[in-house]
Amino acid sequence: MDNKITHSPVLRKLVQKYLNLKKGNIAVDLTLGLGGHSGDILEKVGPKGHLIAFEQDAQNLKIAKENLKKYKNITYIHQNFEFLEQEFKKHKLPKVDGILMDLGLCSSHFDLENRGFSFRKDEPLDMRFSSDLTQKTAADLINRLEVQELTDIFRNYGEEKYAFRIASAIAIQRKLNPITTTKELADLIEEVRPHERHSHIHPATQIFQALRIAVNDELEVLKNVLPQTVNILKKNGRLVVISYHSLEDRIVKHFLKLQEKECICPIEILICQCKHEPTLKILTKKPDRPSEDEINENPRSRSALLRAAERL
Ligand SMILES: C[S@@+](CC[C@H](N)C(=O)[O-])C[C@H]1O[C@@H](n2cnc3c(N)ncnc32)[C@H](O)[C@@H]1O
Repeated sequence: MDNKITHSPVLRKLVQKYLNLKKGNIAVDLTLGLGGHSGDILEKVGPKGHLIAFEQDAQNLKIAKENLKKYKNITYIHQNFEFLEQEFKKHKLPKVDGILMDLGLCSSHFDLENRGFSFRKDEPLDMRFSSDLTQKTAADLINRLEVQELTDIFRNYGEEKYAFRIASAIAIQRKLNPITTTKELADLIEEVRPHERHSHIHPATQIFQALRIAVNDELEVLKNVLPQTVNILKKNGRLVVISYHSLEDRIVKHFLKLQEKECICPIEILICQCKHEPTLKILTKKPDRPSEDEINENPRSRSALLRAAERL
């Protein structure tokens, strides 16, 4: 029997179509996860090609290494992809033909013990992708931030309309006892958040998403890595990004549009002074989404949005 822990790679065929890798190419997977997409990339580039794989979560990295153990042509980097260029310099790596980012968390994050991502379990309120690279946990934020700061996190990263009400309830509760587990937080949210008729979504869903984004500083990290991807791509190399919520997708969309422009001068300047050179050509005018069949087979793919571009 096969005991492998796996994750169903999302938009598998489209990822490979846009990466357009050939035998002997070098590619980077910035979000190795459990190695699903990486396995496909390794098949495309063949034994003469090479894969550089980033993963900040030590548990996922270990599982991925086991899943990909038959391949010898991989450089694993246990690091936040925010340090992409720094790691390339450190390991003296060359420019690459393709880069994949499949953002967010893996199905394994809900299954592994004591990670604190799931409101369906009773675990320490942690939510760090990497306990060795990140200091603050979700419990730290919940118990230390001001009501206004929590409200902003819930509203901005979770688009939670009862953000202030929930943040205020947290502030009252934590004076009595610190909130340290996923169950304590989920129960509190269920108690104070008005019940929405016809909603199949658990009332804690948006708050848990918002906390995870804040703990791992996901949006800042994404903003920081995108310009670095352009610097390490060869001419005609491809960048493929899959995001899972509108906040991430907006960052990717704006970045790609800016890179494609001939001029980035402020609108009031009539004659171009920026001498900006386009660095990318967008391949997806609108983001690609999974088919109904894929969503039925893998409900996690429901919110996936894929954008791709080619280095000029
Ligand atoms: C959606 S999963 C990727 C799944 C993968 N494509 C597969 O097929 O198995 C995203 C992975 O990226 C990792 N990750 C998220 N943000 C990261 C970052 N800033 N640096 C490095 N790894 C990151 C997460 O820990 C997670 O394992």
